[in-house]
Amino acid sequence: MKTQLLPATESSLALASRLLSEGQLVAFPTETVYGLGAYALNRDAVLRIFAAKGRPADNPLIVHIHDRSELDGICEVNDLALRLMDAFWPGPLTIILPRKAAVPDEVTAKLDTVAVRMPSHPVAMALLRACKLPIAAPSANRSGKPSPTTAQHVLEDMDGRIPLILDGGESDVGLESTVISLVGEKPCILRPGGVTRAMLEDVIGEVSLAGSILRPLQKGEKALSPGMMYKHYAPDGQVTLIEGEEADVVEAMRRLYAHAAEQGHRACVMCFTEHIEALRDCHPHDIGAQSNPSEVAHRLFATLRGLDEERMDVIFSEVVPPEGVGLAIMNRLGRAAAFRSVQAKDVL
Ligand code: TXA
Ligand code: MG
Repeated sequence: MKTQLLPATESSLALASRLLSEGQLVAFPTETVYGLGAYALNRDAVLRIFAAKGRPADNPLIVHIHDRSELDGICEVNDLALRLMDAFWPGPLTIILPRKAAVPDEVTAKLDTVAVRMPSHPVAMALLRACKLPIAAPSANRSGKPSPTTAQHVLEDMDGRIPLILDGGESDVGLESTVISLVGEKPCILRPGGVTRAMLEDVIGEVSLAGSILRPLQKGEKALSPGMMYKHYAPDGQVTLIEGEEADVVEAMRRLYAHAAEQGHRACVMCFTEHIEALRDCHPHDIGAQSNPSEVAHRLFATLRGLDEERMDVIFSEVVPPEGVGLAIMNRLGRAAAFRSVQAKDVL
């Protein structure tokens, strides 16, 4: 199959809309990451998503809508959900609600719940408006790779596998949406993202955090969000997180890098803009300013993809405090490192 990469124009949106209504796949930009869309109520179309991504069938998809009236055929909406929609839609928040029967089992991985989201990206909105269909869309990466934040990343992963990629420039947030479940006893964040716990609690009161956000699932522990079970966001090289006081971390990274390079590894460091100068001999990759976590979120996945392009095999990374957007960053970075970390003090 030949994959077209087109700028989002009126004619490419019309083509995208036609392909979707025919059950084909279209990759499109959202404010979080690029999505790989299919008509959500067409079983065969949805199965194409799993084939193109190499995604395990037990990992459910998010249904994207542009108008709340579309939810009538998809899920049971409750009062808490309405309050969250008023506050955060359109935007990077996915809500898990009880499903309706019209949603194919392939979308929900046979769960009795369904994930729904209204994206704010103008191209995503224009596409949903043009096709007037609810669109199931996971991130448009091959399963296991970091989510794509540019059309070029999508092409790297999906060339020859899908007919069309709409180019809408770089994704703004850079990390996938916050996923909140409203089906348990208490609202619970299954995946942290740009809409933070504090922002959610301002609107609906206490919200809990799924246990496995900052650690691997334990043996026998059930994943609330099936996506958490899988190796995710991981580059091919081995990532180690370096924790501790700022000055110690910089010095520890210098030593660890020197040791790895001496041993013949293709090594590098991922560090804040503020530390690039101090780490200039350590093949530094700028992950953004320490003072600006949104910038770190925006750059993280592109940085992780770049490591594979450079065939890096040993990577040392700085960390951010796991608060606000930092929680989402550490959730992704922790998985990229398979939760491998060292204390800077132990290296010095
Ligand atoms: O920002 C985003 O959410 C992007 C853009 C394209 O909208 N989409 C995205 O989709 O990240 P995906 O499939 O890569 O991640 C969806 C996550 C997975 O962790 C999945 O397990 C979880 O949401 N999920 C989906 N439906 C669920 C359900 N019914 N119950 C629990 N978790 C669910
Ligand atoms: Mg994904």
